[in-house]
Amino acid sequence: MNTKTTNPNYVRIFDTTLRDGEQSPGATLTSSEKLEIAHGLARLGVDVIEAGFPAASPDDLEGVRRIALEVGNPVPGESAFSRDVPIICGLARATKSDIDAAWEAVRHAARPRIHTFLATSPIHMRYKLKMEPEDVVERTREMVAYAKSYCDDIQFSPEDAGRSDPEFLYLVLGEAIKAGATTINIPDTVGYTTPDEFGQLIEGIIANTPNVEEAIVAVHCHDDLGLATANTLAGIQVGARQAEVTINGIGERAGNTSLEEIAMALHTRRAVIGLETGIDTTQIVRTSRMVSNYTGISVQPNKAIVGANAFAHEAGIHQDGLLKNQATYEIMRPETVGLNRSRLVLGKHSGRHALKVRLAELGYELDDEEMAQTFTRFKDLADKKKTITDADLEALVSDEIYQPREIFSLDGLQVACGTIGLPTATVRLTGPDGELHVQAAIGTGPVDAAYKAIDEIVQAPNTLLEFSIRAITEGIDALGEVTVRLQAENGSLPRRTSPQSGRAYRFTFGGHGADTDIIVASAKAYLSAINKLLAASGRYGRPEKVTEVAVTEPVS
Ligand code: KIV
Ligand code: ZN
Repeated sequence: MNTKTTNPNYVRIFDTTLRDGEQSPGATLTSSEKLEIAHGLARLGVDVIEAGFPAASPDDLEGVRRIALEVGNPVPGESAFSRDVPIICGLARATKSDIDAAWEAVRHAARPRIHTFLATSPIHMRYKLKMEPEDVVERTREMVAYAKSYCDDIQFSPEDAGRSDPEFLYLVLGEAIKAGATTINIPDTVGYTTPDEFGQLIEGIIANTPNVEEAIVAVHCHDDLGLATANTLAGIQVGARQAEVTINGIGERAGNTSLEEIAMALHTRRAVIGLETGIDTTQIVRTSRMVSNYTGISVQPNKAIVGANAFAHEAGIHQDGLLKNQATYEIMRPETVGLNRSRLVLGKHSGRHALKVRLAELGYELDDEEMAQTFTRFKDLADKKKTITDADLEALVSDEIYQPREIFSLDGLQVACGTIGLPTATVRLTGPDGELHVQAAIGTGPVDAAYKAIDEIVQAPNTLLEFSIRAITEGIDALGEVTVRLQAENGSLPRRTSPQSGRAYRFTFGGHGADTDIIVASAKAYLSAINKLLAASGRYGRPEKVTEVAVTEPVS
């Protein structure tokens, strides 16, 4: 028997980065990126991965199915209930066709879950669903029972619970449990409640819902008022035992509760809160960076736990205190979240073996080809930079590994800029058939000129939504990391629809690049986003999101 399920103080971490997180304005992930993130979440130790909304499209179904197959099964010789095999969950509206699609996607996992939801607030029932409350109760009963005919592990969410009548919630949730729900999740869908209110709502549900002890109570909070973490803590402190979270807090509108904040609050204040999770906190920074690189949604510098400034101490008085005793101004050690900022590891004379060993210590297992590419980049960097830190290595690895299929790659770049003359860039790209393209352009600055030259070659009309740049390490020779987000021009790609609001939104592609030359980093970032756009368009072969995987029967 797994001790987690018997420990009354264990809080299950349900990660919805790949579902609610992907509903963030502008976060489009390719199926291979989703798979990489799912592996990262499994390494982090999450209990449940909500891998997507399979009814959205055949590609979405395929993405979830691939995760169920590859991340949701034990490696040979391992038990499905070991910590490394998370439950794989698919979201479904309360309709048979959505539930069919969710089951089709998750059934390949050793531990599948179907998550179905139906709104219960007066405003949603009246205007969105156009249903009477008694019809909502009936539909809940029917659809939970329908999902249960496929799978034992069923989660039900009364959408907009934060604005629902508590008495009505007790009734709906009681019926859901009677029909077979094993988790009842309470969403504050629009981030409306305050911590006191939300804590009382959960307390009321635990006290008044018939047979509530047969299910796990979960909390799912949105951050519209900046209260998502506080509300989640309020909910678990009164008895909820599943927290629904996303990496970096990404999600619909202002986002969801962030995984790193909940994990570190419970870890740092365990003496007071007395609850635990299975999260390996040393994987937090790495996973945060992966999600930010893939989605193109950069993390604000002052973001708790994973922001660039979270462990930076600027004021002299703080630095003095820290040198005397680290605990004067630091309540968490950077190493606890996987930030090994100040360790100088390698330099110009370090060999391939030393690099491999250090990367393995950081948790990266590279295949031979990835290792060869990373080593070449490492040597290149070591020629320009005296000391190479763990942060530099992580940037190099993510630049090498977390890249989309390369349709166009940067072969050369030269810019002329300054206060005299027009900023000009000459770009040389290798195309899909290995052919070379050279193009020059002028722009408002060197980055704009480089992007214009790239545009001339690749012919992928788009709007640049975001461009951000940061120095990974300190000093004049720092490695610069650029993140961009862009949107394909109207009509060139299909739209996606939010499972909740039903609103259509356009695909947005994120890209990132790292280099000691920030113009080169900018060009790489732009090209990586363009490559995703081209891959999704199907202009150069099959669209990236349609991926074939071998279908096997679920492992029992
Ligand atoms: O915010 C919400 O209500 C949701 C549900 C689907 C759980 O994301
Ligand atoms: Zn949500």
